[in-house]
Amino acid sequence: MTQLPGLLDTEAIRKDFPILDRVLHDGKKLVYLDNAATSQTPRQVLDVLNEYYEQHNANVHRGVHVLAEEATELYEGARDKVAAFVNAPSRNEVIFTKNASESLNLVANMLGWADEPYRVDADTEIVITEMEHHSNIVPWQLLAQRTGAKLKWFGLTDDGRLDLSRIDEVITPKTKIVSFVLVSNILGTFNPVEAIVRRAQEVGALVLVDASQAAPHMALDVQALQADFVAFTGHKMCGPTGIGVLWGRQELLEDLPPFLGGGEMIETVSMSSSTYAPAPHKFEAGTPPIAQAVGLGAAVDYLSSIGMDKIAAHEHALTEYAIRRLHDVPDLRIIGPTTAEERGAAISFTLGDIHPHDVGQVLDEQGIAVRVGHHCARPVCLRYGIPATTRASFYLYSTPAEVDALVDGLEHVRNFFG
Ligand code: ALA
Repeated sequence: MTQLPGLLDTEAIRKDFPILDRVLHDGKKLVYLDNAATSQTPRQVLDVLNEYYEQHNANVHRGVHVLAEEATELYEGARDKVAAFVNAPSRNEVIFTKNASESLNLVANMLGWADEPYRVDADTEIVITEMEHHSNIVPWQLLAQRTGAKLKWFGLTDDGRLDLSRIDEVITPKTKIVSFVLVSNILGTFNPVEAIVRRAQEVGALVLVDASQAAPHMALDVQALQADFVAFTGHKMCGPTGIGVLWGRQELLEDLPPFLGGGEMIETVSMSSSTYAPAPHKFEAGTPPIAQAVGLGAAVDYLSSIGMDKIAAHEHALTEYAIRRLHDVPDLRIIGPTTAEERGAAISFTLGDIHPHDVGQVLDEQGIAVRVGHHCARPVCLRYGIPATTRASFYLYSTPAEVDALVDGLEHVRNFFG
């Protein structure tokens, strides 16, 4: 078995993930390399979810009975865990949403309805990048259409990085918000937060960081990022689906208006007007995703017990190995940085002129799960003149043997298509 320095004890870790034992068609063992789309769920999280529904299920913040108090304690306890996980200065800065898309849309809508100095209007500019997931493009297009604001973006270099050469022309005193991804879901690129934040601060623009592909894989410190908002999702970090997070600086959350109205987010309501609860509740209208938040809290406990730095080191070693091995596959072109430095563990590639959907199907026949398509980042495919890519993405339970299986699988694809 290939041993690499920095790897985690995957033999032990894989025992926590029952699904990884699945045997698929023709007795093929599952090789799960679609972790950037969603991660698998450890027994420790499944147990907490089960226990929640078996012992504590009730609505939160509303009841005086035992179950309601227990559910509230668990839900708010999850907020404490998430706040500690991202080093938030205050638990009140953690808003639960249903996913990262909702977190990003929430900020766009806050700014669309805000008063000065935050309001986005026809005299202002919004800045994003060409490597954003659609969830960090479309909300800004909608906001620009609604308000008349100008949407601008950073383009990409040929090697899959942000082209910041004209940063002062892209981010200007008219810029209200700069929203960009920390780690690209399609290219794997780590983006240079410091340079972007520095320029945004110079012109007084707010900064939103999409950390969906970062929070599961490395220690995330919202204070060190110096952003104003950070968005991520639970299901990519061993948690359940249906739970996302928006972290925001407390004074901004106090000033900015809510987006959704309803129960839970109010202080008082009369027929003519309402006043709102303080953040985070102001932004959590209706019954929240309670069990899902509790599950995310358990996921945070699980990841922390292993150690985010160790997970990052594991993925780095594996990515280095994968890139080395993929370089030897004839006709394979990596789309994105071709060294393991400053990149994450999602590797997109093309294989000659074989369509990625065909690559994915033949790999699937061998039990290997990858994602194919434009990965909800179609402008990246347009930029590099390709219709789609095949993407293999790794996590804390991925092994060098799975990288080998991928490489063998690709050899099979090449033989299959002559
Ligand atoms: N955002 C997810 C991905 O990149 C779904 O696959």
